[in-house]
Amino acid sequence: MSVRILGIESSCDETAAAVVADGREILSSVVASQIDVHRKYGGVVPELASREHLRQIVPVVREALEQAKMELADVDAIGVTHGPGLTGALLVGITYGKTLAAALEKPLVPVNHLEGHVHAVFLEAHKSGRELQLPAVCLIVSGGHTVLYEVTADAQPRLAEPQIPEIFQYRRIGQTRDDAAGEAYDKVAKLLGLGYPGGPILDRLAAATNGVSAPVKFGAIKTRGNPYDFSFSGLKTAVLYHVREHPEYSAEIRSREEALVRGERKYEQLLPLCSGQTLALVREFQGAVVRDLVERTLGAAEEISAESVLVSGGVAANSQLRATFEDRARGKGLEVFFPSRALSTDNAAMIAAAAYSRFKAGIFADSSLNPDPSLKLA
Ligand code: KG4
Ligand code: ZN
Repeated sequence: MSVRILGIESSCDETAAAVVADGREILSSVVASQIDVHRKYGGVVPELASREHLRQIVPVVREALEQAKMELADVDAIGVTHGPGLTGALLVGITYGKTLAAALEKPLVPVNHLEGHVHAVFLEAHKSGRELQLPAVCLIVSGGHTVLYEVTADAQPRLAEPQIPEIFQYRRIGQTRDDAAGEAYDKVAKLLGLGYPGGPILDRLAAATNGVSAPVKFGAIKTRGNPYDFSFSGLKTAVLYHVREHPEYSAEIRSREEALVRGERKYEQLLPLCSGQTLALVREFQGAVVRDLVERTLGAAEEISAESVLVSGGVAANSQLRATFEDRARGKGLEVFFPSRALSTDNAAMIAAAAYSRFKAGIFADSSLNPDPSLKLA
């Protein structure tokens, strides 16, 4: 009989539930996004996030069970994100998870959200029948995080199940000193009048440039000290200064902001309101972010002689990031693994998958489990 874990995720602005069998087979995955609630504020408002989680958690879990054709009683354990994230938001998932675990008399498995992102890559590798060799370098890059880990296998692998993720060991190699990469995308989109979240639209607009040369060049991002640390706030400020110094952007930014107020925020609606110069600026911004993420990650991979490179988190959905990683890693004989776009952004399948190895190891939480907003992976 397989072990079926119900995963619950509520650390930020997605209420998610999923059922995963044996840590690798996704039986269902439901994500209720709160983007519409936070959009007009241009970012996640913690109080609103908690309130939305409260509204969504029961129907989302019910839907995940229905899609998996299961009853609550069929669940073997409940895996819940206990950090890092917004305290009030985490509290909703944790409280619901605890209550279910107590009522069903099933184990409650605490999951680190960042470890969930690592497991999203393993879920995808399993789906596509690819084998992922360790040690690996894992880049987690989202709206809240930009961090590089070394991932190694447990000292005593369970050879009977070679494809089952172990409880991995993590070592932090580098992290952002200021903004996360996704946050930089969101801020640049906001200042250009391109709505929220910024990543998906900037990704598409960057690909729409038609040969207009960049109105400004952004050089390599410099950081002192650890070469694997990131910094994106200077790049965001450079975009801001460039736009301020060039009044020709003002009219089109205003026209896009008016379109957003009318609810016209789709790519097809905003593209005609973007000049060639704006598209080239977006491409230049994205190019600088992607170059930086790829170069530092591959540099770290070389340094630790990694066998594979894992990239996860919302920004891992970026098409140029994917293409550049594939291209540059191939030249170095490294294999790169991404989750599908749906598994890149926050979801609960990755939480249920990460809970499996802990379940096997008997790592359970009791009713004293609390949110840990700054929980570290390493
Ligand atoms: O992992 P995620 O869903 O939530 C957390 O922040 O934890 O990531 C959301 C972030 C946002 O900043 C969004 O702008 C960015 O991921 N994002 C992208 C793309 N899709 C989402 N950034 C660049 N390119 C994309 N295609
Ligand atoms: Zn996340």
